[in-house]
Parts: sequence; C-alpha cells; structure tokens
Amino acid sequence: MSIKDIITVPDETLKKISDPVEKVGENEKKLIKDLFETMYNFKGIGLAAVQVGILKRIIVIDVSTKDEKKEPISFINPIIKSVSNETSIYEEGCLSIPDTFIEIERPKICEVEYIDINGKKKLLNCDGLLSTCLQHEINHLDGKLIIDHLSKLKRDMLIKRITKSQKNPERILV
Ligand code: NI
Repeated sequence: MSIKDIITVPDETLKKISDPVEKVGENEKKLIKDLFETMYNFKGIGLAAVQVGILKRIIVIDVSTKDEKKEPISFINPIIKSVSNETSIYEEGCLSIPDTFIEIERPKICEVEYIDINGKKKLLNCDGLLSTCLQHEINHLDGKLIIDHLSKLKRDMLIKRITKSQKNPERILV
C-alpha cells in the first residue's frame, strides 16, 4: 500500500469525467487500498480516484467518527438511483481545494447502486453525512467540484488565492 499525492485545483484533471471500471481486478483492489490509506492520511472522509490522478469511477468513504470502529466502504461505478426531496446542508471541504469550505444543500437521502470490491452489485440507502459525502464524490467522477456551486467570479478569485498560497513566494522589501 502507498500514500498517493492528491492533485489540487487548478489541475485540469479534476474537470475530467472518469471512465467506468469494466472488471474489478488486482489493479483496482490495490488502488482502493491506496485510496483508503491516502484518505486516512490526509484526514478526509471520502476520496475519488481522480483526486490521485486516476480517471476510474472508484470512490472510497469512511464517515465513522474517530471514536468508532472504522467503516470503510468502496464504491465502483456508483450510480444514484433516487434522491429524497428533503435536503440537508453541510459545510463541505475538499482535499483537492485547500482551506476552502462551502455550504452546499443536497438531497438528504439517496439510493446508490454500485459494485463492491468483490465485483458484486449492491444497492445502498444513504442518509445524512454518508449521502452528502457520496454525492460530493460522485460529482468528482463527473468532473464537478464544490467550487462549481459558486459564481464564476467567486470561483476565479478563490482559485487565484489558492494558486498564490501554493506558490508561496518569498516576501521582499526593497
Ligand atoms: Ni472533494
């Protein structure tokens, strides 16, 4: 297993649409282990393969709190089959967008169909944090980020700020 580098905005890869997985083989299983290790290392509760630069429709999630037993779930080719009218709002961050939190309203409950790590088709009813996290990660697979919920002006300003802070230029006084 290995911890991967997480790509951040404005990397264009994050805007790409990930490809469906045809077969869950050794490469996919290894990737899922790496995604979990990377997610835990960076203290995230969800991670999509595209965030480590791999355009496959694979997501890992663990929404257990730190006092609880770990509850890792991996989703391959996830598809949302239905959503509730009732919504919930979380302040969402993203490992690919440093130091940024945005309030986003999403359906409170969603039903997702996916393939598990053993290649079995599953159906899961997700509520609360799991539902929001899953929708956030599926957005990643479709090249959508939380900053896409903002106006273009706000989004551009934010990316500028992030890019600037990443370069971290030396300050001089002359
Ligand atoms: Ni994210």
